[in-house]
Amino acid sequence: MEIIIQPDPEAAAKKAAHIFAQTIRSNPKAVLGLATGSTPLPLYRELVAAKLDWSAITTFNLDEYTGIGPGHPQSYHSFMREHLFQHVNIDPARIHIPDGLTLDTEASCRQYEEKIRNAGGIDLQLLGIGSDGHIGFNEPTSSLASRTRIKTLTERTRRDNARFFGSAQEVPLHVITMGIGTILDTRRVLLLASGEGKADAIAGAVEGPITAMNPASALQLHERAVFCLDEAAASKLQRIDYYKWVYNNKPTWQQ
Ligand code: GLP
Repeated sequence: MEIIIQPDPEAAAKKAAHIFAQTIRSNPKAVLGLATGSTPLPLYRELVAAKLDWSAITTFNLDEYTGIGPGHPQSYHSFMREHLFQHVNIDPARIHIPDGLTLDTEASCRQYEEKIRNAGGIDLQLLGIGSDGHIGFNEPTSSLASRTRIKTLTERTRRDNARFFGSAQEVPLHVITMGIGTILDTRRVLLLASGEGKADAIAGAVEGPITAMNPASALQLHERAVFCLDEAAASKLQRIDYYKWVYNNKPTWQQ
């Protein structure tokens, strides 16, 4: 795991945006895995401002609420349109987000996995993290081998996301999410986290045991996982000085 610690959320997002921009520039046909939530907002702003060529880029989003359509203001379809897709020259046919209104969830999830495979797999996957360590919507105790499927949100996640809906009761109970196995299959993962509210989840993910109780800890098994953190999210890491030391003393060719 590579741990990058920056002074504030904007600087962490800038670093992450730099990695995404580099990927898009070096491979104009890259397949990107995208995430929602408040954390990636400054990253998407940076990417829009960078005026990159998205015409041959393919994207797969991590998750979507069920029971709400793409036009619902709190759907992840709307989120992505508003914060990224409407501002760049992406081909709509290359955008993939789970279908929250499907009448055949199992078939739809299977097809989502197939589409990822047919696109050649995901080159770079963006992740946020929930305060309980969830990635995508893989709540604690999700199978570490799980694939795209329906999940039931915990009360805690519904409370955390209530700010977008008005109240926890209005947050859909069920979601469709890529699995942890799906995420582990991606070629590179970039987890972006900021704020003190994420510090316990990050400490568990990076330094705790690999456990379904903290789904992000599964990333310890990923060959190329980068955690881009601000100081607050990194504040409970026991080896924080070591991570900074490693980052500041990289071989020149790796900088
Ligand atoms: C939701 C999303 C996750 C995201 C998490 C944290 O649960 N499904 O992908 O990481 O929220 O969101 P925020 O960045 O707003 O804290």
